[in-house]
Amino acid sequence: MMERLTEPKIVVTPPGPRAKGIIERDSKALSQSLTRTSPLVGVETEDVWVKDIDGNVYLDMGCGIAVTNVGHRHPEVIAAVKKQLDICDHVNSCDYYTLPQIEYAEKLFPLIPWKGQKRIFYANSGTEAVECAIKLAKWHTKRYYFIGFIGGFHGRTMGALSFTTTSTSARKYFDPLMPGVYHTPYAYCYRCSFKQSYPDCGLWCLGFIEDVIMKKMVSPQEVAGILVESIQGAGGYIVPPNEFLPGLKKICEKNGILYIDDEVQSGFGRTGKMWACEHWGIEPDVICMSKAIANGLPMGACVARAEVMDWEGNAHENTLGGNPIVVSAAIAVLEIMKKQGLLENATRVGKYLMKTLKELMARHEIIGDVRGKGLMVGIELVKDRKTKVPATKERDEIIDEAFKRGLLLLGAGPCSLRLAPPLTLTEGHVDKAIEIVEGVIKKVER
Ligand SMILES: Cc1ncc(COP(=O)(O)O)c(C=O)c1O
Repeated sequence: MMERLTEPKIVVTPPGPRAKGIIERDSKALSQSLTRTSPLVGVETEDVWVKDIDGNVYLDMGCGIAVTNVGHRHPEVIAAVKKQLDICDHVNSCDYYTLPQIEYAEKLFPLIPWKGQKRIFYANSGTEAVECAIKLAKWHTKRYYFIGFIGGFHGRTMGALSFTTTSTSARKYFDPLMPGVYHTPYAYCYRCSFKQSYPDCGLWCLGFIEDVIMKKMVSPQEVAGILVESIQGAGGYIVPPNEFLPGLKKICEKNGILYIDDEVQSGFGRTGKMWACEHWGIEPDVICMSKAIANGLPMGACVARAEVMDWEGNAHENTLGGNPIVVSAAIAVLEIMKKQGLLENATRVGKYLMKTLKELMARHEIIGDVRGKGLMVGIELVKDRKTKVPATKERDEIIDEAFKRGLLLLGAGPCSLRLAPPLTLTEGHVDKAIEIVEGVIKKVER
């Protein structure tokens, strides 16, 4: 057990000597494709805290990319996993049945934002949940094409990667990807691809889909699905204006296109609602989920309307999906979220965080925009508020310096910080985090 802390504790400037040794060994053994944000060698975790191998303790404002939503190593998740391990480890879900899979489905379905019947497919990650949705959309509609969004991140397997457009480095040398995906600008009003301004634009990002893509590039009758993040995650924590997602849903309904909602990052209470799409009253046809689903154990799922998940045996299967151990953790996560009122906490503390950040923005020119819902909050950094030149180098310096002071921050998009702490965060943690961030900003501004 880690000692009880109220603030980070730095005992040696990180990376300390032991961390350096591990990083040296790691650099010779692991794939260089992993881009490490900070030289953290985490060895112990608890709630909102991560301890490194040299004894430094950090306040975790990223929680492993929006994963440990109920707090690191929640005792009830640990207990559920231990209990399951003592009973049954694995039998495989293509050939046999297990209890946790059906128990989880029955607990999750009432939380899915549409009234009709649902079906679930268990995967092991976010990218696999998306892969399932892509295949299902093709199978169900017998259509070939998709629409995705520029700046979207949906994973790195070939199907999901066909939609991922956060940066060229994720796609370089991997073509040909899955054919048939048209990309269109997301409603990123702070940096509109069409150089328009909201609301005078009349939501041209929607108009472009109907008037340009669907008239000149692909007939809507050939589009199987539109894949969208309700709030773009890796792209920069971008919250669309209120009309965007409902407008998209209308386009789908008009043309028999499936609305595929990627909630891999924004789901499980992250935004103060179970699913981010609920902020706009969206009832998707398919939802992809992972990350926080089992609080750090590898799991993903694709939930679809029962009438959409109509494929036949062998169309899609896997070996480890819905493994009883990870699903037992996922069951505990749902129970903890309810018992501890984590949606309410994310809303309350998220509002406090937003207010504090707006005040910080008033004091520091480098902050061009703050945006978010609940505890999914982005801070976009600019060299100049008028020209909005991205402050990428400064963003990276802020992350580095905050790390040295005991605060774990993640980047998103070219010049944003993403705040995605455990949903157990308190106002006291927010104060501490902002105090560190402000100290660091002052240093970087100098
Ligand atoms: C919205 C979204 N979809 C899909 C993925 C892919 O998830 P995974 O890394 O588990 O494959 C991510 C990962 O960051 C994501 O943010």
